[in-house]
Amino acid sequence: MKYYYPEHIAVYEKIKREGQKVAWRGADFERFPSRAFLEKALPQLCFSVDGPEVLEYGCGTGASACFLAKRGFKVDGMDLIPTAIELAKRFAQEQNLNVYFQVQDICELPHKGKTYDMIVDSFCLQSIVTDADRNKVFAVVRARLKAEGYYLISTALLDEDAYYPEQTVIDVETGIAYNRYGDGDLRTETGIVYIPVEDSDDYPDTIKIDNQWYLPHRRHLTLADLKSELGAAGFSVLYWEGDRARSGHMICTLDTVTETPIEYGELVTAIMVSIC
Ligand SMILES: C[S@@+](CC[C@H](N)C(=O)[O-])C[C@H]1O[C@@H](n2cnc3c(N)ncnc32)[C@H](O)[C@@H]1O
Repeated sequence: MKYYYPEHIAVYEKIKREGQKVAWRGADFERFPSRAFLEKALPQLCFSVDGPEVLEYGCGTGASACFLAKRGFKVDGMDLIPTAIELAKRFAQEQNLNVYFQVQDICELPHKGKTYDMIVDSFCLQSIVTDADRNKVFAVVRARLKAEGYYLISTALLDEDAYYPEQTVIDVETGIAYNRYGDGDLRTETGIVYIPVEDSDDYPDTIKIDNQWYLPHRRHLTLADLKSELGAAGFSVLYWEGDRARSGHMICTLDTVTETPIEYGELVTAIMVSIC
């Protein structure tokens, strides 16, 4: 089983069992974590059609997909976990919203198929951890985004308070250095966060460090490193910001749509307007 399944299976079983609508602590279906960013970003984007086509991958129970549908977007929502999609369909139906939800691992979405005016990642990317898997996601986005389309990302960033760069574990076999991160996790300089697991049986991606099995769990980059990663993956990052919840938000286009790079800071407001 891929490393990104078990956590999410458990989350949606719990949500369903407990009759909740979203997984986020302190949030609800209307106040989902990327809402403030979407509200800020959407008025700045220019679409050549009425009712732009949107794909949200990692849509969960559909909070942001429904938010977008209410604002006139034609939305396809995809998620790995069948229970999430079952709930998303129910919640959209309850609001008389027409969203097409589908169970789909975004890493495995065929490159040929419907293309979109906007692709949205609302806190999925941090769970897609390895270089190989992230490259698959970025290749899918490049293939499925229309030439003038937008790629909007909200994702978790490095939590400086949980990071102990002075506490290093060197794996004797590989010589790779890992730093303590949070409660018992390890993080490499690449931003991959590993969690300890009992054994390697179920997951091909486990690694052994100091006689303990670890599973890739998160990719927590700095905002600058995330921006570099997206640049290397074929995107122009037009706008980026970090917020107090250690989340990064970005508006990207394909890098064939060239924009002058800008520094993070006061100019951000200007680029928000000029990307139209
Ligand atoms: C933190 S939740 C965010 C859910 C929703 N977008 C929101 O903002 O409330 C991350 C979601 O990404 C999904 N996910 C993780 N890996 C995925 C993959 N490879 N393909 C599709 N969905 C994935 C998980 O099942 C989970 O629903």
